Amino acid sequence: MRAKIIGVGSCVPEKVVTNHELTKTVDTSDEWIRTRTGIQERRLSDEATATSDLAIVAAERALAKANLSAQDLDLIIVGTTTPDTLFPSVACILQGKLSAVKAAAFDVSAACSGFNFALTTATQFIENGLYKNVLVIGADTLTKYVDWNDRGTCVLFGDGAGAVVLTASDDGSGVLASWLKAEGHLSDKLIMPGGGSRDPGQKNGRFITMDGKNVFKFATRVLEESILAVLKKANLETKDIDLLIPHQANSRIISHVVKKMDLPNEKVFVNLHKYGNTSAASIPIALDEAFAEGIIKAGDIVVLSGFGAGLTCGANIIKW
Ligand code: UT7
Repeated sequence: MRAKIIGVGSCVPEKVVTNHELTKTVDTSDEWIRTRTGIQERRLSDEATATSDLAIVAAERALAKANLSAQDLDLIIVGTTTPDTLFPSVACILQGKLSAVKAAAFDVSAACSGFNFALTTATQFIENGLYKNVLVIGADTLTKYVDWNDRGTCVLFGDGAGAVVLTASDDGSGVLASWLKAEGHLSDKLIMPGGGSRDPGQKNGRFITMDGKNVFKFATRVLEESILAVLKKANLETKDIDLLIPHQANSRIISHVVKKMDLPNEKVFVNLHKYGNTSAASIPIALDEAFAEGIIKAGDIVVLSGFGAGLTCGANIIKW
């Protein structure tokens, strides 16, 4: 029995902020942001919008595509590091609002790798026969946690949510293999220092702190490592990939890996110019767009690979 994706949906806030707009408040330029990251604009949630508000719309869209109702769900897993509140989980908030009465619900904290970690977790529940229908979401509102005076981070992030509905299937399609990794010795390279139990009063600040260069080095290394690892587990080779959807953080990270692996550009989906880095949401938003654009067809081999704070990295290989 495999975990097969039968519905995909996404949601981004309406407000668009271009690079040009950022230059009015921070010492940066459209040229710097484009050439160093590939980002042209990003979406920002307003004060009243929390992560679950974007996640619920993505979830409803995915459920509609899957032709399932929330009451059919056995489990909801949300990958997020920007929950509405420290507790309850975003997954429980969604379970209540969707009236998914028989679903268990929990969040997974793996930052930008959150969607892949959640997808792998959901796959285990389906493969071992415990659950049939699982909703997996990646959702984050990191723009609420950036220091708008720190040009090294504020130009990078955007908000959004993406969701998939998985069902147990024995038709040969679904998640073929998964691979997850953590390098906790690098945990200080990308960190939100305040707000947790070590600093509930946020004396250390409430903003994302990042050592961009070291995260960049980690990302280029593990993106390739993760793709090769899931291919090997699935007994496939690089040439078998029909579409790679990498975490949408920086086009230079993606190009570096694509070149090193000798992957044709048309086999790599990139939409970060429109959204920036939406953290756990970036891969399912890209998956939704790729599917809507007709890029993914039945039988295709699709690789999803993401990296982020932890530091973490996770990949899943799917036969569509
Ligand atoms: O999901 C994981 C999330 N994180 C990532 O994926 C981040 C990975 N890292 C990166 O993407 C890149 O390291 C950055 C885009 C963050 C930075 O690019 P870089 O090529 O590593 O730039 P840098 O940090 O080496 O900075 C080069 C110069 C510096 O100026 P000086 O010291 O050479 O005079 C920075 O102060 O660029 C300056 N700089 C900027 N200039 C204009 C840094 N940010 C900006 C900016 N606009 N926004």
